[in-house]
Amino acid sequence: MTGTPRPIDDPAGFIRAETRLRAVPMVPEIVLHLADEAVPIWQRTEEELGAMGLPPPFWAFAWAGGQALARHILDHPGIVAGARVLDFASGSGLVAIAAARAGAASVEAADIDPFAAHAIALNAAANGAAGIAVLPADLVGQDRGWDVVLAGDIAYERDTAERVFAWLFALAARGAAVWIGDPGRSYLPRERLVKIADYAVPVSRELEDSEIKHTSVWRPRAG
Ligand SMILES: C[S@@+](CC[C@H](N)C(=O)[O-])C[C@H]1O[C@@H](n2cnc3c(N)ncnc32)[C@H](O)[C@@H]1O
Repeated sequence: MTGTPRPIDDPAGFIRAETRLRAVPMVPEIVLHLADEAVPIWQRTEEELGAMGLPPPFWAFAWAGGQALARHILDHPGIVAGARVLDFASGSGLVAIAAARAGAASVEAADIDPFAAHAIALNAAANGAAGIAVLPADLVGQDRGWDVVLAGDIAYERDTAERVFAWLFALAARGAAVWIGDPGRSYLPRERLVKIADYAVPVSRELEDSEIKHTSVWRPRAG
């Protein structure tokens, strides 16, 4: 085996076979193709792609940050109503689907994991959320004129968090409304953020070593 994944014939079929369509605990009005456990699906992803050392299948779980942010958007639809929205690091597409349901004018969902693109499309269809544009790309540094930029659970790795937050703060400085969902991951730049709301999010003990994760919705501090 090498570290270079080979293409797979039927990624959507793989996702359907390895997950179950289930309601998201904090956002039961949205269903997602979710895995029960991380390790088996991670191993089967590596087998399927003929590659080792792949990142975890983030797209197969509803992360605490995304759950809190999706809940917040659905309860406060004015955040996205009529807006051009980016869901950055979309994973399953949970936050993008919430934005579409809350009345965004357009929604782009971006993630660098090629499986995530297929998961987002499947999950959008399962929720009747038409029109989400899936971008399988690293958009850090780009500005496509979004009104609102959403990011759930992106502060778990130092290098990524530094790059991503520098970009998000630049977008906020030019006037984009940036919203972040985060359960207190290690690389969240709290000193530059304002807490907007708190949620107690049900999560998997296997992933988080806890059944509830206290999670907040944050915005960049002005100035
Ligand atoms: C912990 S998951 C969060 C997924 C989703 N937002 C949620 O809360 O359920 C983090 C996601 O970030 C994605 N990611 C990491 N670096 C990225 C980048 N530079 N651009 C886009 N996505 C990225 C990963 O592929 C993964 O899907």
